[in-house]
Amino acid sequence: MMDKFVITGGRKLFGEAKICCAKNSILPIMAASIMCDGEVVLKDVPNFIDIKNMEKILRCLGVKTNTYNKNLHIIAQNLNSFFVPNNLTKKLRSSVFVLGPLLAKYKKARISYPGGCKIGLRPIDIHLCGLKQLGAIIYEENGYIMCDGVNMKPANINLRYPSVGATENLVMASVFLEGTTVITNSAKEPEIVDLQNFLNMLGANIKGAGTDKITICGVKKLGGGEFKPICDRIVCGTLLIACAMCGGKISLIGCKEDEMESLLKELRKSGCKIDAINDKITIESIGKLTAASFVETSPYPGFPTDLQSQFVAMQAISRGSSTIRENLFETRFGFVGELKKMGAKIDVQGQTCNVCGVDKLIGTEVYAGDLRGGAALVLAGLCAEGQTTVCDVFHIDRGYDFLEKTLSSLGAKIIRQRERK
Ligand code: EPZ
Repeated sequence: MMDKFVITGGRKLFGEAKICCAKNSILPIMAASIMCDGEVVLKDVPNFIDIKNMEKILRCLGVKTNTYNKNLHIIAQNLNSFFVPNNLTKKLRSSVFVLGPLLAKYKKARISYPGGCKIGLRPIDIHLCGLKQLGAIIYEENGYIMCDGVNMKPANINLRYPSVGATENLVMASVFLEGTTVITNSAKEPEIVDLQNFLNMLGANIKGAGTDKITICGVKKLGGGEFKPICDRIVCGTLLIACAMCGGKISLIGCKEDEMESLLKELRKSGCKIDAINDKITIESIGKLTAASFVETSPYPGFPTDLQSQFVAMQAISRGSSTIRENLFETRFGFVGELKKMGAKIDVQGQTCNVCGVDKLIGTEVYAGDLRGGAALVLAGLCAEGQTTVCDVFHIDRGYDFLEKTLSSLGAKIIRQRERK
């Protein structure tokens, strides 16, 4: 389905929205369910394409999955395969997350190199290097990564870079290793804390997630149970930026202020009024924003790379000039060309983009090229003059649950036009 969003810009946003559970928490937790002897029920799972594709990956391993009333039931008792075919691994970067659990529980795995958003090279060397330090034998055969975990044992692993996925994969790979594994220079994202909480609820013994040192003491098995993943801070940030750009006042329920601090600081500096009480964040904007002089992305708790594109769209209509530096991914400015079709004045030099704010953008036809770049184009359309058509919204559906419905409920004029290819 090559759906499009048709947006009529110029509406302020008002109202309240509940934030869905986090894609980047659910995906590793779904992979971790491979290790569980009992049924796992993930509550209130959103309708993301990436989650559907992760379900396909689990099913091809022999895992049973079913969704009842938005609760995802996962039963991984009788795996009959340890091989993820190329057509599935190419769909989803998170396919790599099955390596740790399969090696932990079944001591073998075979996958091809993962796919995902075209935002950079996205190697998995840190994953594989860590697994080898745990004693896994890993080699390539016909383009597949072959893994043998029979002789795996605990180790002290220092990551050369705080990779989110590698941290998660190595925590999962260590759950059953008798003794103590320590991962240092680990990533500190809230989604890693959520994975630790999920695994410990099922019987694991993991400490330190959220810091740069995680300790995993091996246990014999994991049971089953119900778990509600944390809210999606990137969806929350996307909607906060939408309101900053359009003007208005919205409240978002579910995300914690301290998980959003790096963005909230920039929104306050731009002239928005932000209040945060418990899990409710309220933003008020008159729609006229002051440009951020310099913002660069960095691992949590720094400014999230997954909000970089949306933030560039916000700078495009802010008063003044700004420089945004992308430090995590090599080619995450692909959306800028489409923004310039709307009248944005942006110059990209390698990992840096210089934005000169304009009074208004003009609606036109643009194409989403990746998940967050597509979201940025939607935000631009919401505050542009006239009509904007965002094509290839399947990119956006990977990480937003009917984004058009949420925005419409807040007063935006946006519809989904279904197009059969
Ligand atoms: C996770 O990807 C997220 N995805 C990404 O969100 C997010 O952008 C990223 O973390 C950074 O926060 C999920 O959690 C499913 P990394 P991941 O390993 O784990 C390099 C979205 O929009 N690297 O922290 O792939 C890598 O190339 C997605 O929701 C290696 O060099 O990110 C990148 O430059 C996009 N070797 C940097 O590290 C490795 O083995 C950060 O990657 C692994 C990573």
